[in-house]
Amino acid sequence: MPEQYAVIGNPIAHSKSPAIHTAFARQTGHDLHYGRILGNREDFSGDVHRFIATGGLGLSVTVPFKEQAWALVDERSPCAETAGAVNTLIRLADGRLRGDNTDGVGLIRDLIDNHGLEFRGLRVLMIGAGGAARGVLAPLLETRLDTLTIANRTASKAHTLAALGTPLGPVVGCGLEALAGERFDLIINATSAGLTDTVPSIPDDCLAEGGWTYDMLYGDTPTAFCRWGENHNAARVLDGLGMLVEQAAESFRLWRGIKPETVDVIRMLRNPP
Ligand code: ATR
Repeated sequence: MPEQYAVIGNPIAHSKSPAIHTAFARQTGHDLHYGRILGNREDFSGDVHRFIATGGLGLSVTVPFKEQAWALVDERSPCAETAGAVNTLIRLADGRLRGDNTDGVGLIRDLIDNHGLEFRGLRVLMIGAGGAARGVLAPLLETRLDTLTIANRTASKAHTLAALGTPLGPVVGCGLEALAGERFDLIINATSAGLTDTVPSIPDDCLAEGGWTYDMLYGDTPTAFCRWGENHNAARVLDGLGMLVEQAAESFRLWRGIKPETVDVIRMLRNPP
């Protein structure tokens, strides 16, 4: 029987993870099955332990269980520790569960490897201070960026997140209104505003000439923040599909010891057959 992996979330029907990991398995010649589990909101821990007890070797964890996964594991990577969330569960040889978080690595690899971004010296703005923002904080601060500004509708949450990042790199937190007069070379949208097809209220002139926009969300049609980037003359307008595939590739590497190629998988998702 092939070795068992799965993604757990709620809802889960539209998850692209099975298609991504099945493509990785085919590409690397690994004999594994990757399924999907509709997690029980009242018994996430039971779902995980049942999967592991029946031989499951690893789980991808998605909304709304990443924080519960963080609390559940026996040990955590430093990245997961800072993120306060786990998106990758690994069954260790002794049966204990290790939690990692590959979202931040996925974002950085997409920007650097797939799009050729040079972080050195960049003024980076991340909008949002919820789970998605916290998940990518540590890897962002490990790049050679000049400054990371975290701006949030609720300023106090941006201050709290910036304080968490301060030991790791140059970061400040503020409210959205404090962005007046500021310019950024890269603006990352880590808010959930796009789920209602809206954009956080940021100044029209806060993207520097030649600056890029990156929406951590993605969709079959351009997201609201991608449309904002296009309307504000961003040199590059990127959505989160590449990040999705890159975080999956890093999870696959953690489980299987080999990092799959991602370019063709991103292309397949972008242009389904
Ligand atoms: P996630 O895990 O997706 O980050 P979350 O933890 O609920 O979800 O955080 C949502 C983030 O999107 C927050 O930063 C939220 O701002 P507040 O902290 O002020 O609530 C932000 N957000 C959601 N809708 C928004 C909107 N319409 N405009 C600006 N920010 C928004």
